[in-house]
Amino acid sequence: MDQDANGVVPKLRDVFAGYFRIGAAVNPRTLVSSADLLARHFNCITAENEMKFERIHPHEETYAFEDADRLAGFAREHGMKMRGHTLVWHNQTPDWLFEKPGGGLADKALLYARLKAHIDTVVGRYKSDVFCWDVVNEAVADEGPELPRESKWLRIAGEEFIAKAFEFAHEADPDALLFYNDYNESHPAKREKIVTLVRSLKARGVPIHGVGLQAHWQLRSPPADDIRAAIERYASLGLKLHITELDVSVFEWDDRRADLKSPTAEMMELQERRYEQIFRIFREYRDVIECVTFWGVADDYTWLDHFPVRGRKNWPFLFDERHQPKPSFWKVVNGAGTQE
Ligand code: GLA
Repeated sequence: MDQDANGVVPKLRDVFAGYFRIGAAVNPRTLVSSADLLARHFNCITAENEMKFERIHPHEETYAFEDADRLAGFAREHGMKMRGHTLVWHNQTPDWLFEKPGGGLADKALLYARLKAHIDTVVGRYKSDVFCWDVVNEAVADEGPELPRESKWLRIAGEEFIAKAFEFAHEADPDALLFYNDYNESHPAKREKIVTLVRSLKARGVPIHGVGLQAHWQLRSPPADDIRAAIERYASLGLKLHITELDVSVFEWDDRRADLKSPTAEMMELQERRYEQIFRIFREYRDVIECVTFWGVADDYTWLDHFPVRGRKNWPFLFDERHQPKPSFWKVVNGAGTQE
């Protein structure tokens, strides 16, 4: 079925208008190739890569705003909001940031001075376009008892770099909502570490307003109960929640199968049920969930085509490779129409 009873494909952003914003991660290519879907169904975008440190500030004296400006321009033109992604991360960050002139690791004062300059410039530039920032991305360790992830940030500045980043971002734009964003966010052990981190930031008066649940999920994992528990725990901190990078991989994390040219019927059926389940949970928590962003638009392009198995295609979204609504789309849309 490609249409409802009246022959129309409903717009996701209208269907969920009473619930939360519907976002998509975009890049300069998908901005063109998926322009119609974006304009029709979405009311929020995130730059997939174009606002990351290595892209927007590749050398100390050089900022590269062209691509990010184009995305922000698209959002403006279509009356969409934009999430800023991301200011502090251990990945896709250039080496110069951590090095002192002449070589060796920079000291804390130099790192902070550079971070402040970066945040003032980037957050300042997109003040009128970006309503919230993922200030710190993925700073919590997945495994083991340690809370902070090993990184150059940690090595140079200790855990304090996290609070500093939020303070700098707040100074640069006091109106922006500031988020801590992470993956494996529904895994109970990591969830508790994230809760501990965020709670201690709040207790110290650090300006943090929300938790981003990346939600790079699979057909079966994480279990629905873990997703629900994570939402409850994060919400109990009194913060806003954004689902920031939603996709539903048709392969479990440790499945290295690489022979498929198209998804199996079973995969698509499971995905339908999974999307139905996930959106039922999101709707249930609409008072705390403000925005649900997919990490892409349609199945013709997804970062999962290359990760974690190189060159393997994946089909994680609500729209297929030809940009048609999948059965999962209808489950999501029809679910929102049911009485709650
Ligand atoms: C993380 C980051 C995103 C993106 C994805 C993979 O989730 O937050 O920016 O790089 O990995 O595409």
